[in-house]
Amino acid sequence: MLKQTLIDAIHAGAKELRAYFDKKDLHISLKEGINNLVTEADHASEKAILSVIHQAFPEHAVLSEEAGAGAQKSAWKWIIDPIDGTINFANGIPICCVSIGIEHEEKMVMGAVYNPFMNEFFFAERNKGASLNDRPIQVSRQNRVEKSCLVTGFPYTYLDTPNGPLQVFDRLIRRGIPVRRLGSAAIDLCWVAAGRFDGFYEHKLQAWDSAAGFLIVEEAGGTVTDFEGDPYSPYQPHLVATNGSIHTELLTWIKGTFQAE
Ligand code: IPD
Ligand code: CA
Ligand code: CA
Repeated sequence: MLKQTLIDAIHAGAKELRAYFDKKDLHISLKEGINNLVTEADHASEKAILSVIHQAFPEHAVLSEEAGAGAQKSAWKWIIDPIDGTINFANGIPICCVSIGIEHEEKMVMGAVYNPFMNEFFFAERNKGASLNDRPIQVSRQNRVEKSCLVTGFPYTYLDTPNGPLQVFDRLIRRGIPVRRLGSAAIDLCWVAAGRFDGFYEHKLQAWDSAAGFLIVEEAGGTVTDFEGDPYSPYQPHLVATNGSIHTELLTWIKGTFQAE
């Protein structure tokens, strides 16, 4: 019932993404910050998702990007990003998705990320592995950062702080390490889980960006921590997700303590 509701909710959201994609005069408004967009599709997707969840589990709590936290208190919490990659979506770039994680007693127990434009449905359940379109997935085996293909994202603020996003990016690309920027943290995480990237880091994420994806990486055999290497919590901003083998080394590149042998 839980898994089926998650699947139904994510498809209800994705249906709205398909309906609004490439729509002429898509209604876009600005949230706090620079270029921080929300579109009518974000709201339509969120409404459709919440309606499915409320119908199946009216007693469960929700935390959703545009609607915020509901009033309901419960051991179960659904953490929802109705569109992750809104700027891509608004520009007709098909790298965007719906992301939903389910927490039970403060532990992420199930998560799904669906990109309807690539028809890629990523799913994980705690201790049961991760899958892409029902096929098991695993992280890559790369064990050197200098041979890795990485991905990151940039916040609108804090760009120039010591060991901030630009400094870390600078350090890596000066060594010729490919660092991609897709524009959807949930997809970045899933692509680490699928072995397409060896690692992902970002300096300022929100719970809904990472809730589902971090479980998908862990269940695919990867490691997810904060910048200190401590267990990851989606309620703090820093995230490093890797195949596990490059994790300790990537942390040193982020902290600026990397020393070549
Ligand atoms: C954003 C994307 C992006 C990340 C930003 C997020 P949104 O989410 O995940 O990749 O760099 O930090 O805010 O606004 O498209 O839902
Ligand atoms: Ca997001
Ligand atoms: Ca969003």
